[in-house]
Amino acid sequence: MQRLAGAWRRRGVVIGLVPTMGGLHAGHLSLVRRARRLAGSRGKIVLSVFVNPTQFAPNEDFANYPRDLARDAELSRQAGVDVLFVPSKEEMYPTNDRGAFSTFVTEQRVSRGMEGASRPTHFRGVTTVVAKLFNLVQPAFAVFGAKDYQQAAVIKQMVRDLNFPLRIVVAPIVREPDGLAMSSRNEYLKDDLRRRAVVLSQAISKARAIAKNAPNPIPASSLRSTLRRFIERQPAVKLDYAAFFDPETLEPALKVRRGVHLALAVFVGKTRLIDNARL
Ligand code: PAJ
Repeated sequence: MQRLAGAWRRRGVVIGLVPTMGGLHAGHLSLVRRARRLAGSRGKIVLSVFVNPTQFAPNEDFANYPRDLARDAELSRQAGVDVLFVPSKEEMYPTNDRGAFSTFVTEQRVSRGMEGASRPTHFRGVTTVVAKLFNLVQPAFAVFGAKDYQQAAVIKQMVRDLNFPLRIVVAPIVREPDGLAMSSRNEYLKDDLRRRAVVLSQAISKARAIAKNAPNPIPASSLRSTLRRFIERQPAVKLDYAAFFDPETLEPALKVRRGVHLALAVFVGKTRLIDNARL
């Protein structure tokens, strides 16, 4: 991959990268379309599929994560991806006696709250693998989804801090017709749970309506309680966190007004789902 990217770059070819863990859906494909528009017809779009073990905690779903490379390859072909890059776990993280992998990248501010608080080793895995992908693919830009809002902010911070010579582009969340944000993990939701999962986007709409109509800014703690009650009315559904924060700095907001960002993490049965929006 690195040799191919080097040859392209010497010829002045614009490379766009879309990093994924596979289980491709319309959200991922919207990132490919954005990448194609930015790179132009003579640019090259690389889509990586790598279920990155270092971003999963031992109790999480690494082993069960949806894997269907034949389907991912077909969807990539239809979407006009030039190279589907699928490194193995051994290539990315060698475990042999002498050459074992031992270097990690950690971002230490933006990654602290929310997903970082609930999943303490998660972002170190994400920044490490994304740094490796940037060095392998050498893109002029990489496209990420706003679905993982904090992840995109952490990557932007890493790129600034470590002087990666590329641009980070963030594309909007693609949703199912009922409002559920598309996610590879939605495949885990069977029957009733799939219907109950719509409560995340409904909670966002509710928060937006409350923020819009309130005469004064609302204490974050009180809106959080309202959302928790609303979300947990659904059987087998539990709020992990509802965070209100500044969309640029990700600093927590104590008062909620229009323009504050809301991020939610919710267990629907055993499946952990996230969503977010500007209020
Ligand atoms: P994954 O969950 O496969 O997501 C890959 C990219 O697709 C991310 O940038 C994510 O934000 C975006 N995406 C997912 N669902 C989306 C939706 N409904 N609308 C728009 N974009 C969406 O995020 C990861 O993989 C990994 O952490 C990775 C960055 C690849 C590092 O391993």
